[in-house]
Amino acid sequence: MTTDLPSPPPATLHDPFAPLIAQPADALLGLIALHRADPRPGKTDLGVGVFRDDAGRTPVMRAVKSAEARLAETQDSKSYLGAEGDAAYTEALAAIIFGAHRATGRLTGVQTPGGTGALRLGAELLARANPAARVWIGTPTWPNHGPIFAEAGLEVRSHRFFDPATGAIDFAAMVDDLAEARAGDVLLLHGCCHNPTGISFMPDEWRAIADLCAARGLTPFIDLAYQGLGDGLADDAAATRMTFGTLPTALLAYSCDKNFGLYRDRVGALWVQSAGTATASLVRSNILTLARSLWSMPPDHGAAIVRIILESEALRTEWEAELDTMRARLNALRQAIAAADSRLAPIAGQRGMFAMLPLSSSAIAALREDHGIYMAPNGRINIAGLRTDTIPAFAAALLPHLDTAGEAR
Ligand SMILES: Cc1ncc(COP(=O)(O)O)c(C=O)c1O
Repeated sequence: MTTDLPSPPPATLHDPFAPLIAQPADALLGLIALHRADPRPGKTDLGVGVFRDDAGRTPVMRAVKSAEARLAETQDSKSYLGAEGDAAYTEALAAIIFGAHRATGRLTGVQTPGGTGALRLGAELLARANPAARVWIGTPTWPNHGPIFAEAGLEVRSHRFFDPATGAIDFAAMVDDLAEARAGDVLLLHGCCHNPTGISFMPDEWRAIADLCAARGLTPFIDLAYQGLGDGLADDAAATRMTFGTLPTALLAYSCDKNFGLYRDRVGALWVQSAGTATASLVRSNILTLARSLWSMPPDHGAAIVRIILESEALRTEWEAELDTMRARLNALRQAIAAADSRLAPIAGQRGMFAMLPLSSSAIAALREDHGIYMAPNGRINIAGLRTDTIPAFAAALLPHLDTAGEAR
């Protein structure tokens, strides 16, 4: 049987899509394709933000495999759960994030498709509550942050916080820039393991940020996408706990996609803390109607896996041990990179999967072309893309280019 394609429409037909403007291709996805097409055996992918083991793989965690087997055996229905998703998942997750002390009556949480879904749902809620709110985001940040808030209709403003020359925090610059923030504005913060810089605020800086939010009427929106991959589950949640414990209102976007290795299963959650219980129920009803129009209900599989792991003592112990191994690998690689040259020393004190190297765009291109080393266009590297035995070659390729730091990127 032949299937003839319909003939093209007459040229005079109105095309409703003609006004669209072509969008730039995603730089990281382009990098995946380039890396895949590179035939050199020693090529190194430091671009994509997924954890890799020492063999370069991103395996399914053992605790996840066991939970999946348990789910397949015991799940007797795939009927709808509702816009809030799996409430037992959200509850089990809240315990590892917020600990024992939660403003239960004022804190409301729902399951979302990944951390991205949580950020977008929070952005839609903020835009609905106060369309004039501006969202302050430190530069550099995860490239999706700005578009998520802008697409929800909110104005996005940038502030400084990081000095690329020293690889350290410039807190005074952050406070200076935030002098322009108005009451009702939102301050986006990475809860731990900053993407792309790997730097963390010190506890006293977090307290100063909370004081600033309280004094100026700003709402903190914490993005916690790497809990357990920095200093440990409790330590990585410390800033979130302090912020929620200190301030009447705050939002948290959470991702289980890195710390449970569930990337494509899209597992996240959003929590919103309100000043009072009446507002909390307003918030919840608005979150649920927004979620209903965005995705109706979040995908269940990954969240069910996380719930099964967190509700089983044995699986939770296994997951925590695997997470400890992942974190130890990242931190050992950090030490080894830092030991290669004093200019790389700040990397040892940074945390999480990423670091940002002060490289010009021509240096980034040369590393790719001459050495098969692939990294994001802003000089971000995924630490987990390295191996202890590849670090000397990586450092040898990199060091001549570090002298070009300061050139335009
Ligand atoms: C800082 C940050 N927030 C949120 C996310 C989103 O994670 P998810 O894949 O769960 O949407 C990422 C993913 O890379 C991230 O780096």
